[in-house]
Amino acid sequence: MKKKLVVLTGAGMSAESGIKTFRDSNGLWEEHRVEDVATPEGWWRNPQLVLDFYNQRRRQLKETMPNDGHYGLVDLEQDFEVKIITQNVDNLHERAGSSSVLHLHGELTKACNEDKTQVKDIGYEDIKIGDRCGKTRMRPFIVWFGEAVPAIEEAIEITRQADVFVVIGTSLNVYPAAGLLTYVAKEVPIFLIDPNEVSTNQMVSYIAAKASEGINRLKDILHKQF
Ligand code: OAD
Repeated sequence: MKKKLVVLTGAGMSAESGIKTFRDSNGLWEEHRVEDVATPEGWWRNPQLVLDFYNQRRRQLKETMPNDGHYGLVDLEQDFEVKIITQNVDNLHERAGSSSVLHLHGELTKACNEDKTQVKDIGYEDIKIGDRCGKTRMRPFIVWFGEAVPAIEEAIEITRQADVFVVIGTSLNVYPAAGLLTYVAKEVPIFLIDPNEVSTNQMVSYIAAKASEGINRLKDILHKQF
């Protein structure tokens, strides 16, 4: 049986594809304040701004390609049962060909009703003011700050079963995602790939590199160990 390799990814995973990370530009997300475009309050205040913002992100995603890091994780499926838990709302893991991807913070290519009980695929289409989903306004299927993270229970279960745990391109600033590391079983090795220092209380083997290069190095290490 293949060993279970569980990977937690963040914005840094998609950086080499040209998508900006969150915390490297004065707390602004693509020139917008997070409170304006990634909170329920922002949506109530100015839905047009929020829709425009995610419509723009969706258009950008259409023009963006997976990078060698995404493909490196697909290669690892030859030797491991790879399960990806991602904080990213892009679909680059899926487009690279990864077979198991759990999105913690929602997906750009989906929309939902206000209470998220109905979810639909919209691909790269815009959501317009006046669009409805069920009985409410249609909104982007994104987990905004202050909202519940329903996928976290499944993510904890996946994390508990890991034989190897890998963290790639996340500052580990946002909970509950960052707390997943505490569910990794004691004897299980944790590798952390990031070109910059990331602070964590867990014992990790640090691979100081961008995602693509770091995953290549990880492959060498894993092939020697397993
Ligand atoms: P951050 O922007 O906080 O962290 C990105 C991490 O990627 C940093 O540690 C960078 O050093 C690292 N990085 C940069 N370039 C890299 C590269 N080429 N390869 C590997 N790593 C690289 O992003 P997240 O931790 O993903 O939430 O942020 C978590 C959540 O906060 C996001 O999901 C989003 C955000 O606000 C919501 O939208 C709810």
